[in-house]
Amino acid sequence: MKKIYALFLSAALCLLFFACKKEPDFEYYYYTPEEYRVLTQYLTLEENPFSYTITFPKHLQKNGSSPRQVERDKVVLGRVLFYDKHLSKDGKISCGSCHRQSIGFSDDLPISRGVFNRAGTRNAMALASVASFSTYYGTDLNGISAGRFFWDNRASTAAAQNRSSMINPMEMDMTMEGIVQAVENQPYYQPLFRNAYYGDRMVTADRINESIAHFINAMGSFRSKFDEEASRATNHMNFTRYDQSFLAFNDLENMGKALYLDHCAICHTRDMGRPEIDFANNGLDPGQDPGVGGISGRESEKGTFKVPMLRNIAVTGPYMHDGRFQTLDQVLEHYSSNIQDLPNLSPWLNNGSTAPGMNLSDLDKQALIAFLNTLTDEKFLKDQRFSDPFR
Ligand code: HEC
Ligand code: HEC
Repeated sequence: MKKIYALFLSAALCLLFFACKKEPDFEYYYYTPEEYRVLTQYLTLEENPFSYTITFPKHLQKNGSSPRQVERDKVVLGRVLFYDKHLSKDGKISCGSCHRQSIGFSDDLPISRGVFNRAGTRNAMALASVASFSTYYGTDLNGISAGRFFWDNRASTAAAQNRSSMINPMEMDMTMEGIVQAVENQPYYQPLFRNAYYGDRMVTADRINESIAHFINAMGSFRSKFDEEASRATNHMNFTRYDQSFLAFNDLENMGKALYLDHCAICHTRDMGRPEIDFANNGLDPGQDPGVGGISGRESEKGTFKVPMLRNIAVTGPYMHDGRFQTLDQVLEHYSSNIQDLPNLSPWLNNGSTAPGMNLSDLDKQALIAFLNTLTDEKFLKDQRFSDPFR
């Protein structure tokens, strides 16, 4: 009996001892210490990943619209893939080469250059804008037609678009098998895949596409001065008074806002979200590129292009699908007096009998530029969660 008693007592003491030790009985590791040691040789990832939950500011929460939710662990993987040059034929190009964070995930060349310095045919699009409104992009949500990717609207999902960039000979010039191989060869991907795919480390082309799409969909650029003010001008019914002067805007910015609402919002939207129309011809001197018409085969869509979002526009030049304009001044000069009266010119830009053109004064242009500058989201452009993690 005494023996049993002693046994109980020591068991109890043991329990007490362990209970009192400060160490938690279960240690949560996102990466094992060994994995983290390998990872940190190549990457500057945080031991516990950032949160990628996205919440829209008030003015964007209208019509029940909400950001597309992303899975954090897929975003973490997608971020590494996005910046990984091993995914290209010459080992020198990643998505991040043509889509640079500091300039709104665009490129500063009129026409981007891919592997072996090969020139493509179009200006790289600013991605910060894309995904901020990813509810509208990609597969149809609730059967509502969704926005499409590329200047000619040819891709319907971010995953289809990624694939296209990876296998495009002018961009990364790989086969999907080649990409899978390249990913398998890098020692840092194992834990990233395991975390993203619920314990399964298998590398597949679909998973690569999917994770990059999660990364792109996680980017949300809506902390600009414009957003702060628009949010402030939104009432509890989610109604935004865009027409009223914004409090923190100066006179020039407010004047530019009024001009924007008059001349531009009909296509580019008031809230800088999904464009009012998906594609249009805005009267540029036509080049060789048939745009949307080249994909759809419709004569009426020849020379029409995706209406781009204008978020971060001040830093994403050169402008237009072929990067023909270096500055916003030139863009406004085009809208003011160089609109070509083409058969497919958007009716919104065709003012009937007189020659098309907005006839903007110098002050109008200054004001519009001041307003467009309020769309720059410095916080986003520097947000570490979207930065290049490679050492
Ligand atoms: C060589 C430069 C280059 C590389 C590398 C590149 N892109 Fe692009 N990206 C472009 C260009 C140019 C366009 C516009 C192409 C077009 O419309 O035909 C574009 C368009 C896009 C779009 C469409 C945006 C929109 O609003 O419709 C997305 C998304 C995108 N790229 C993501 C990626 C991803 C992800 C990768 C890596 C897998 C990548 N890009 C690699 C140059 C590049
Ligand atoms: C009829 C619709 C329409 C109207 C109105 C319109 N735009 Fe555009 N805008 C477009 C289209 C379409 C493009 C892309 C054209 C292309 O690249 O071929 C574009 C491109 C742009 C670009 C270049 C974006 C980039 O990423 O390269 C800027 C800047 C711009 N518009 C500003 C304005 C401003 C400012 C106004 C008002 C003064 C305005 N737009 C009025 C349809 C419109």
